[in-house]
Amino acid sequence: MNYRHGYHAGNFADVLKHAALCELLRLLTAKDKKLFVLDTHGGAGGYDLAGDAARRTGEAEAGIGRLAEAASREAAPPAVQRYLAAVAAFDRKFGPVGPSPRHYPGSPRLVRAALRPGDRFVACELHPQEALALKREFAGDRAVEVRQADGYKVLKALLPPPERRGLVVIDPPFEATDEYERLLRAVRHGVRRFATGCYAVWYPVKDEAAALFAREMAAFRPLVLSLSIDGLAPGKLAECAVAVINPPWRFEESMREALPWIASALGPGVRSRVAAPPASAPAPASGA
Ligand SMILES: C[S@@+](CC[C@H](N)C(=O)[O-])C[C@H]1O[C@@H](n2cnc3c(N)ncnc32)[C@H](O)[C@@H]1O
Repeated sequence: MNYRHGYHAGNFADVLKHAALCELLRLLTAKDKKLFVLDTHGGAGGYDLAGDAARRTGEAEAGIGRLAEAASREAAPPAVQRYLAAVAAFDRKFGPVGPSPRHYPGSPRLVRAALRPGDRFVACELHPQEALALKREFAGDRAVEVRQADGYKVLKALLPPPERRGLVVIDPPFEATDEYERLLRAVRHGVRRFATGCYAVWYPVKDEAAALFAREMAAFRPLVLSLSIDGLAPGKLAECAVAVINPPWRFEESMREALPWIASALGPGVRSRVAAPPASAPAPASGA
C-alpha cells in the first residue's frame, strides 16, 4: 500500500468526485429522513496543498486551483459554487483564505459538513498512517465513526443500514491488480443487500480492465460522469469517472449543467461527459 492521496488531493479527479459528492449529499439530505453514509476508502480527511506532497505533483494547481480561479472571474453553476463553498469552509478553519484554497477537504470532511443531527457516518481507511490522520481529523466528533479497516469488508457488514436510506462512496486507490474485481464484487453485494442505496463509485478509465469494469457496471444502470484530459504525458491519469447508482432526483440535471463548466475551467483539452443509462426496453405486452 504505497498510495498516498496527499499527492493527488484537489486534482481533476478529486474535482469531479467531490463536486458530485457535494451535490449527492445536498440532494440526499433535503428529505427529512435520516441518512447513513459509508465512505469505504476515506484517506486522511484533509490535505495541505502547500505541503511537500501536493507541491511535488502540482496536480491541485491544475485542479481545484484552476476551478477556484475561474469561479472568481465568472459565475459558476450552483453545484460548482456549493462545492467551492464547502472547500472554502474547510480552508477557513485554518485561517484567512486566499483566492485558491490551501487546505483541501477529503471526502470524509465533505460528508461531515453535510450531515444533519441524527445522520450516521462511517469512514474506513486501511493504511495505518492515513487511518491515524483520519482519526485525528475527527477526534472527539461523535457524528463520525472512523474505522481502520478494509472498506469492502465493512460494506459487507453494514449493509443494509437500519436507516434504509444511504449513500455509499467507494474510492479505491487502484494499486492492486484485482481492484476492479473486488470493487465489482462489493457493488454487487451492496446492491443485492441494499438495492435502494445510492452508490458513488470512482474509477480511472485507462485500460481494458477499466472498460470491462464499465461494461459490468452497466448492469446497475448508473449515471456515469467523466472528465478526460488530452495531451498528457504517457502514464499520467488522463480520464476518470464516477458511476452513480440510484442517483437522487435532479442530480443528473445539476451535473449536466456543472460538468461542462468544470471542464472549461480546468483548461483546453479537458472534456466532460454525462452518460445516462439507455431508457429501459418497454415491458413486453401481456401475453407476448
Ligand atoms: C483515493 S484515496 C481516498 C481519497 C478519499 N476518498 C477522498 O476523496 O478524499 C484511497 C484510500 O484508500 C485507502 N485504502 C486502500 N485499500 C483500502 C481498503 N481495502 N479499505 C479501506 N481503505 C483502503 C488508501 O490507503 C487511500 O488512502
